[in-house]
Amino acid sequence: MVKDLSSAPPRFTELKDGEKSMWRYRELLPLIESGCTVSLGEGFTPVLTRRIEGYEVILKLDFMNPTGSFKDRGASAMLSNLKALGVKSIVIDSSGNAGAAVAAYSAVAGIRCRVYVPSNAPISKKLQISLYGAELVEVEGSRTLVRERALAELGDSVYASHMWNPYFIEGLKTLAYECFEQTGPPDAVVVPVGSGGLLLGVYRGFCELEELGLLDEVPAIIAVQAAGYTPVYDALHGPYGAEPPAEPFADGIAIPNPPRLRQIVEAVQASGGDAIVVEDSKTLEALSLLARIGVFVEPTSATPVAALKDIKAGGLLDAGSRVYIPLTGSGLKAVDKIAKKTLKL
Ligand SMILES: Cc1ncc(COP(=O)(O)O)c(C=O)c1O
Repeated sequence: MVKDLSSAPPRFTELKDGEKSMWRYRELLPLIESGCTVSLGEGFTPVLTRRIEGYEVILKLDFMNPTGSFKDRGASAMLSNLKALGVKSIVIDSSGNAGAAVAAYSAVAGIRCRVYVPSNAPISKKLQISLYGAELVEVEGSRTLVRERALAELGDSVYASHMWNPYFIEGLKTLAYECFEQTGPPDAVVVPVGSGGLLLGVYRGFCELEELGLLDEVPAIIAVQAAGYTPVYDALHGPYGAEPPAEPFADGIAIPNPPRLRQIVEAVQASGGDAIVVEDSKTLEALSLLARIGVFVEPTSATPVAALKDIKAGGLLDAGSRVYIPLTGSGLKAVDKIAKKTLKL
């Protein structure tokens, strides 16, 4: 159902018949040159509403973006502006999805791109990066080492990290606008947190809707982290205390020290939210549950659904609350990892 926006301020009123991509909100997106959008039709992805753990869960199928993850929103906004600035060559480090998205949008923009990934990143993500025409550099070791290597080998290229670039988050905020427009505002948003761009983008989008006078209150933002990588939980509650696993299952959020940690924690607190940690076994259960309702996502994307049990047990949200969960990455991105757990390969 498309929400009736006729009583909304002028810029939202014009949207009803607008473009069916995130660029329908172009008036609210920063663009250095208005005519210069680098787009593959990202955004305006479908939603399904299902009852899970007694909540009305709005599942946003954002893995249906062109490269199979929500990162396309950020990549489209970032590459549009890098192109407008005349940038010719960029470097990025990534667990895989941002690398794939940035590689694809760089190809569209005609910008050279080099992507550094951990060598244990899923093969589909690595394959995407090189097929889109970017130079793929695999780095043995932690995610921190991957970033250090990318920075050390920058040369004349621009460091276009999704973790730092302000335009990337601007693209991600459209997830909040779409939620508002497609289903109406939720009581809470539950998101996986790695570098925190998704959480900060969604938070910014809802804050802007509040500033526009369209929302009374920003929904509670609940950050979900995987055991072994819990900086947000640790900052709020003290050390969770699990060691990082040898091979992360939810690889998109295997980030021990996100650069914007303070902002993430402040956003969670200001919204009245919290942080939840999930173990890999629960993530696998949630992934299977989603698959049995016809939705195939990668492990990282299943973590918010895994968190719903603890959210309920801890009384964080009232029964029947409306909970928005962006499903961030396709299961087809991680068939090797998922098969190892489910088919015992
Ligand atoms: C599928 C998926 N979901 C969620 C995240 C977390 O996003 P962020 O790094 O913006 O916190 C990532 C990050 O790579 C991801 O790949």
